[in-house]
Amino acid sequence: MSCKLTFEICVILLREVSSADASPRGRAPADVDLSVTIGALRLRNPILPASGTFGYGLELAHLVDPSRLGGFVTKGLSREPIEGAPPPRLCETPSGMLNAVGLQNVGVRAFIGEKLPVLRKYDTHVIANVFGYTLEDYTEVIRVLEDAEGVAGYELNISCPNVKRGGMQFGAEPGMVAEVVAAARRAAKRPLWVKLSPLVADIGVIAVAAEGAGADALTVANTYPAMAIDYKTGRSKLGNTTGGLSGPAIKPITLRLVWEARRAVKIPVLGLGGIETVEDVLEYLAVGATAVQVGTASFTDPRASQRLAEELRRTIFGAKIFTLNEIHKKFLAENA
Ligand SMILES: Cc1cc2nc3c(=O)[nH]c(=O)nc-3n(C[C@H](O)[C@H](O)[C@H](O)COP(=O)(O)O)c2cc1C
Repeated sequence: MSCKLTFEICVILLREVSSADASPRGRAPADVDLSVTIGALRLRNPILPASGTFGYGLELAHLVDPSRLGGFVTKGLSREPIEGAPPPRLCETPSGMLNAVGLQNVGVRAFIGEKLPVLRKYDTHVIANVFGYTLEDYTEVIRVLEDAEGVAGYELNISCPNVKRGGMQFGAEPGMVAEVVAAARRAAKRPLWVKLSPLVADIGVIAVAAEGAGADALTVANTYPAMAIDYKTGRSKLGNTTGGLSGPAIKPITLRLVWEARRAVKIPVLGLGGIETVEDVLEYLAVGATAVQVGTASFTDPRASQRLAEELRRTIFGAKIFTLNEIHKKFLAENA
């Protein structure tokens, strides 16, 4: 892809800043249609809180209105409850954050029994993030969720760096990716998104394997294996020794991965990595993401996703664009 589209969007935004008459006559920001289509799902806007950074969607409901979000992705759910990694689990790094939560969660059955009944009252898409140590674990979690009302789709986590088995092990090799995605596809009647690992030699090859095995969309990407050390004690700053790096530090690297994945497949790509500002969102859209997820930013501002959706509406209104599809169509035309 040429980077013409990126430049086009920059020009549009510059025009917004320099224009004396930024408000198109007779129209209001509320007229902007931010909805996007990801396979069979239509999201009211392209911004979703990312897995593991928004709990089960209930913890922040007093601060964020889930009904104003495009949807949200739950904490990773496993067949049985997982206790997670030893503390400390989080550590700040320059422009980023390390985490090793180790997929602590209540297990899929408790999620259905305790969390989902409350979540159902919100008018939003609940995407269940699914994790397993084995292929059978993944399919069993999906099988159990299939019987539950109120789940819009699944995000298969084949990219967690913080567990010894499962996760990233499935996401590193195209044959394994195809196997786990095909098994999940057979188990799932609902939309299936696959969350890729950034730590692969060629993300295009992995993306094609997931698409070929039946993924409806790809989420690019998870955190980057990393560590932080206290040189005085020689000890890691995380109980798990290593963790996953997230936040602004990873944005340029993940942006490149989204660009490469999007060129390799026809299915939609959701971009995530280091998004904090509306400009970050536009950059991901400019490299072909249909929607984005927001992770670490929710730790400093729990309302980040909702705020970004509102800012995106105002920004593209100021640029005299009235549907997000106009941006997507431009991307597709550029890359036909
Ligand atoms: C504390 C924490 C917990 C996370 N837990 C999960 C998880 O359970 N499943 C998953 O797929 N990704 C998980 N992630 C990864 C995020 O969803 C996201 O891919 C990553 O943080 C990059 O986005 P960001 O830079 O916007 O944070 C977690 C990230 C953080 C910071």
